[in-house]
Amino acid sequence: TWSNVPAGPPDPILGVTEAFKADKDPRKINLGVGAYRDGDGKPYVLNSVKKAEDFLRASNPDKEYLPITGLPEFTKNATKLAYGADSTPLNANAIAATQSISGTGALRIGGAFLARFYPHSKVIYLPVPSWGNHTPIFRDSGLEVRGYRYFDKKTVGLDFEAFFRGRGIAYYIVVDQNAPERSIVLLHACAHNPTGVDPTPAQWKEISNIVKEKKLFPFFDMAYQGFASGSTDRDALAVRLFVSEGHQVALSQSFAKNMGLYGERAGAFSLTTADAEEKARVESQLKIVIRPMYSNPPLHGARIANTILSRPELYGEWEAEVKGMADRIISMRERLYNELANTHKTPGEWGHIKSQIGMFSFTGLTAAQTKALAERAYIYMTADGRISMAGLNGKNIDYFAESVSRAVKG
Ligand code: LMR
Repeated sequence: TWSNVPAGPPDPILGVTEAFKADKDPRKINLGVGAYRDGDGKPYVLNSVKKAEDFLRASNPDKEYLPITGLPEFTKNATKLAYGADSTPLNANAIAATQSISGTGALRIGGAFLARFYPHSKVIYLPVPSWGNHTPIFRDSGLEVRGYRYFDKKTVGLDFEAFFRGRGIAYYIVVDQNAPERSIVLLHACAHNPTGVDPTPAQWKEISNIVKEKKLFPFFDMAYQGFASGSTDRDALAVRLFVSEGHQVALSQSFAKNMGLYGERAGAFSLTTADAEEKARVESQLKIVIRPMYSNPPLHGARIANTILSRPELYGEWEAEVKGMADRIISMRERLYNELANTHKTPGEWGHIKSQIGMFSFTGLTAAQTKALAERAYIYMTADGRISMAGLNGKNIDYFAESVSRAVKG
């Protein structure tokens, strides 16, 4: 029956974890998937999460189904975290929201909702490069995926020509003669994945102006709130700026990274709407999108996140832990830069290792070099040369830098 099914390729990110697991060498390092590791290279369960779980256990909750759109307190607190307590649409009860199967599920619900109801266009523009899963998520949601230029390979930085001289995202959309008006544009809210290069606040303002001028519809993916700057408020700058500038936005949120809830799959999807009545209509349709997909979302992760977000003492501890994770990554950036540039005198310019932000660094290593690192040094990363900085620690960073230096020198 299945003789016509061709073997598919491994996933570009999760396939790296499979290859790493199969490797028997004790020196092996996994810098593929974006999952935080502590200073000993171990997965890290946050203390605030452990305390929230203790609290939940003591309250002896049942295992009844959640509503289709999830735990209402959780979506309320998640949207407050993203849009800010003083957000106008939030306080006007004009944000339609649903719990989601983490960030991927939020993007998929958003893609499906827009494919069904966004009246102006079925085209979504993604930055090039973007997270590897964005293209299949939106394609499988029924949207047509196109790219806008984001990253300048020459300077290993934000493409300034694209942003300024060319008048930004819209320029590249406009020069695409076939681009329908009012297309959807996907923006990484902070800690751009895979490049680690974000617009400055002034550049965000410029992007907001262009998006407004061209009547594009902004869809924010915020998978790393807190990881870029160490502050959840600061990392929400782009989303809050757009809302205060009068844009209606779509937003995907994940608690995988900032609460370390990876496998618990806690996230949220939201849309700002005109008023409470429109919000109710939109939410009724979100339910109709979700019900045949997975009926209703899982309980535990949303309960943990909600406990942290709603209890001031846990919230404070969590914020400090997010900053602790972000700071450890920054210290690894400093050290890696020093080892590559100074200790090993590795050919090339490595300043971007320090200037990039968030969980990832886009090293500039070629596909051939990343392949050589896996085969000869048992070091695994995605083929585009992205490394998860969180996979580095005091014990493996010397070996990593030495191996990279050898790979670059050939
Ligand atoms: C990543 O980019 O490594 C993360 O977002 C994890 C994933 O699901 O790909």
